[in-house]
Amino acid sequence: MDAILVRGGAELNGEIPIAGAKNACLTLMPATLLTDQPLTLTNAPRLSDILTMTTLLQSLGAEVQPLQGGRVLALSSHDLTSQHADYDIVRKMRASILVLGPLLARYGHAEVSLPGGCAIGARPVDLHLKAMEAMGAQMDLRDGYVHATAPAGGLRGAVIEFPFVSVGATENALLAATLARGTTEIRNAAREPEIVDLAQCLRRMGAQIEGEGTSTISVQGVTQLSGATHPVVTDRIELGTYMLAPALTGGTVECIGGRMDLVAAFAAKLDEAGIEVTETERGLRVTRKNGPARAVNVVTEPFPGFPTDLQAQMMALLCTAGGTSVLEERIFENRFMHAPELMRMGAKIDVHGGTATVTGVDRLRGAPVMATDLRASVSLILAGLAAEGETLVKRVYHLDRGYERVEEKLRACGASIERVKE
Ligand code: EPZ
Repeated sequence: MDAILVRGGAELNGEIPIAGAKNACLTLMPATLLTDQPLTLTNAPRLSDILTMTTLLQSLGAEVQPLQGGRVLALSSHDLTSQHADYDIVRKMRASILVLGPLLARYGHAEVSLPGGCAIGARPVDLHLKAMEAMGAQMDLRDGYVHATAPAGGLRGAVIEFPFVSVGATENALLAATLARGTTEIRNAAREPEIVDLAQCLRRMGAQIEGEGTSTISVQGVTQLSGATHPVVTDRIELGTYMLAPALTGGTVECIGGRMDLVAAFAAKLDEAGIEVTETERGLRVTRKNGPARAVNVVTEPFPGFPTDLQAQMMALLCTAGGTSVLEERIFENRFMHAPELMRMGAKIDVHGGTATVTGVDRLRGAPVMATDLRASVSLILAGLAAEGETLVKRVYHLDRGYERVEEKLRACGASIERVKE
């Protein structure tokens, strides 16, 4: 099994290219199920999660062809042979549930394995199912699968009111509503840039959507959608992750393709911590000028608030900040598994329920640590960059789900980091 070996201490200087967003690509790909015309996605990230979604769509009979080394995905589903999304694939990646809405909308039937929980929480899909029921679908849960059937005339437009923000449920509702009969209004919708990107792609395909990026999205159903070519939006979580690298080590790094509007709340926190973030023609430049970051308090919220997917990475910075910081994780019930690993490196962290209190230390010390989930794994690498000595991060298969060539990108800026066999 692969591991990442980091020798800490080097200041980072240089450029890091930011890829297309994993979480946008994972909701854009199922859109191919809504049409028999070709859908081409450019600026696609080359990640194992994308390969998993490719395998899932191919298991339904869709064609997914990676071009230009996987940077472009050519999809089409004119001859779908199945509406069964198998447990073996779904259990590897929860985003598989996003085929439910499109299958129901176009074929009137879907049999999708329930995803099961994951390390960061139970992560139920009840809101996804309720949204489909609101549009007239019948949901039967049995033997670990949801057997979904649309009414004879197809899904009906409806008012869908989410009790709290859910990115995936908003995406499933939006995908399904494009072909439902009549108007759908999604209230308390997620406002993430990945939702905006999905709406823009669906609109290119002929969908009639308004309000994406706000809490209310309205969709006028159409009878069919055409194909399109759409560029995947920049990955704001990869962007934020690499912005933290110079913040931890000192130096200046320019994140090519970075956009301030994608990370405004996060960048404001970095500014509060004394890290300079500047917009350039090519992206965002991050500099840590004078000494360690200042302690800051963080609360994770749905967009446009501070993203939960950057909480673990931010904690790594705050472990070496001057003073005490309080991080409150409000989205997931168990997203501090990186804390005990950081404490092996000498971090001072006190976790109570959804709140972690971090008292900064002068220097972390390298140690063998274990990645538990995607964002925790990269948080440990960031900590290793600033630590004294060597850090060996094990179980990096988590890492490869969401970060393309992380050791190459960091090594190009002066980090001493390599992938080794564990
Ligand atoms: C998406 O997950 C992202 N994944 C997550 O990124 C991200 O952390 C999350 O949104 C929040 O921003 C993808 O886009 C593939 P939610 P999703 O539905 O859609 C609860 C990463 O690291 N909930 O917004 O699953 C849920 O348990 C991943 O890239 C229900 O209770 O997140 C959670 O506590 C991790 N019932 C909260 O809502 C439901 O039906 C927010 O979940 C759905 C969700």
